Amino acid sequence: MSDNVIDVEGLTKLYDGTTAVDNISFSVREGEIFSMVGPNGAGKTTTVEILECIRTPTSGNAEVLGHDVMKDEDRIKEKIGVMPQNFNTFERLSAEENIRLMADLYGSKNVEEVMKMVGVTDFKDKKFSELSGGMQTKVGIGMTLISNADLLFLDEPTTGLDPHARRETWKLIKRLKRTGKTVFLTTHYMEEVEELSDRAAVLIDGRIEVIDSIENLIRDYGGGIKVVVRKDEKAVELVKEKSDEVFKNESGELVGIFDNKKRARKALVTLFQMDCDVEVKEAGMEDAFIRLTGGKLDEEGELV
Ligand SMILES: Nc1ncnc2c1ncn2[C@@H]1O[C@H](COP(=O)(O)OP(=O)(O)OP(=O)(O)O)[C@@H](O)[C@H]1O
Ligand SMILES: [Mg+2]
Repeated sequence: MSDNVIDVEGLTKLYDGTTAVDNISFSVREGEIFSMVGPNGAGKTTTVEILECIRTPTSGNAEVLGHDVMKDEDRIKEKIGVMPQNFNTFERLSAEENIRLMADLYGSKNVEEVMKMVGVTDFKDKKFSELSGGMQTKVGIGMTLISNADLLFLDEPTTGLDPHARRETWKLIKRLKRTGKTVFLTTHYMEEVEELSDRAAVLIDGRIEVIDSIENLIRDYGGGIKVVVRKDEKAVELVKEKSDEVFKNESGELVGIFDNKKRARKALVTLFQMDCDVEVKEAGMEDAFIRLTGGKLDEEGELV
């Protein structure tokens, strides 16, 4: 038995001759938060919806919880929780009524427990249409939890949320992982990928550019540790000598890039002993994404 809850092999989806998903293969392991990240139109939702048995693939294989998406649709659907992109529900019903509706559908009794888990209790009587985006997201995630599924698909759960609501949602998603759920997440936000995921796949034009743990992606594509030095002649000389690459940033400061952590640390100790004014910037997913794709994703998910 593998520990994978999702196994995808050579999956392809064409819409009227346009390739939305192009021969992708990947696995998702039990208990991890797996992110699929990529610009608008990359094929994230198409991939997710094939796994949720909402769309059929053109070719390739996909297994979810050991079941074939083409053969065992009913068994998959009863075992997963789904929050679609641009999630919406009954606007005139309250937060609690929406969650209760889902509970009736599944014959579930754990409404109170779910409301507490996702933090809906305080505003449970408010109409869905009157809730903030962050509160609506909590209701949406609550609705996916009612079936008590161990595998959750969250398609851009934080798009459009303000930074505070986004952080609240992150906390909730981390809590889900701690309770043993596997989360398949799609997002445009690199900070979110870094904060939440164990592993991520970067999807561009329907193809997986790279897939790995966040740590490895940052190590391999992040471009190393940046040390910024200000004015100090001695510091500039030292960084020029010890780093792998130097350039001047927008403010005219010298930036040295260290590919190797140990060497960076050594240089930094010397710089600190010399009492130099230095700033250290560790690479993150944003740097890795820029190196991989040559661009950044803006707030709306466009590659710029
Ligand atoms: N029902 C459809 N019919 C035809 N083309 C479609 C359909 N759904 C999606 N597409 C196309 O397939 C490609 C992938 O779309 P998809 O929605 O999977 O991307 P995405 O990565 O989820 O984008 P976003 O970040 O904007 O949500 C796009 O070119 C899109 O226009
Ligand atoms: Mg989408």
